[in-house]
Amino acid sequence: MTQTALFWDKISKKYAAKPVADEEAYQKKLAMTQAYLTHESKVLEFACGTGSTALVHAPLVSSYTAIDISPKMVEICKNKLSDTEIHNLEFKVATLDDYRQFENEYDVILGLSILHLLSNYKEVIAQTFKMLKPGGIFVSNTGCLSDHMAYMRFILPLMKLLGLAPHVEFFSRKELEQSMLSSGFIIEKAWLPPKSKTSYFVIARKPES
Ligand SMILES: C[S@@+](CC[C@H](N)C(=O)[O-])C[C@H]1O[C@@H](n2cnc3c(N)ncnc32)[C@H](O)[C@@H]1O
Repeated sequence: MTQTALFWDKISKKYAAKPVADEEAYQKKLAMTQAYLTHESKVLEFACGTGSTALVHAPLVSSYTAIDISPKMVEICKNKLSDTEIHNLEFKVATLDDYRQFENEYDVILGLSILHLLSNYKEVIAQTFKMLKPGGIFVSNTGCLSDHMAYMRFILPLMKLLGLAPHVEFFSRKELEQSMLSSGFIIEKAWLPPKSKTSYFVIARKPES
């Protein structure tokens, strides 16, 4: 198992018990996402965590696959799912790389609170672009730490050494948008919730042609 999977396995129960930091913003992000979901939508969510968002969106779409690198996170997801009547949602232990053969496949891909944790985030954005159908939507929520928490650049590596934090990338909102534009995306919506200085919500579209 990778160090990343071990880290998230270790904190999975704590993460599951943690209340949403800004409920109002979370609800608005769900609603903004749902404006793009239809009963025909084929959806992939990577780094789904404990599955809360997948469980909300899945009843609105045709099929919903939610993946995460951490087996313990996925176990929590599957337990939650077993208490529901949702039949079009599957949770799997996987990374986006395991799905790279699925090109032009999905109507919507979600990557929430994940891109800033990936050293290859630019490649992941490009991969997402390939996996979407023309006209498809990439929904992301990303910690853009260079804009307001640049000091963490020195603290987080120490925390990582002590096993208290995962790997974290530092980039700005502008740099994130630039990575998306370079991959071919059009930015449809971008929102920084009033209470957040770093959590940047972006809905990007793969052009039809
Ligand atoms: C900050 S949590 C976000 C979870 C969820 N998306 C949310 O918004 O609450 C990051 C999640 O990404 C997962 N993760 C980290 N690296 C990953 C990777 N390379 N591929 C898939 N999942 C990954 C972790 O296991 C963890 O569940």
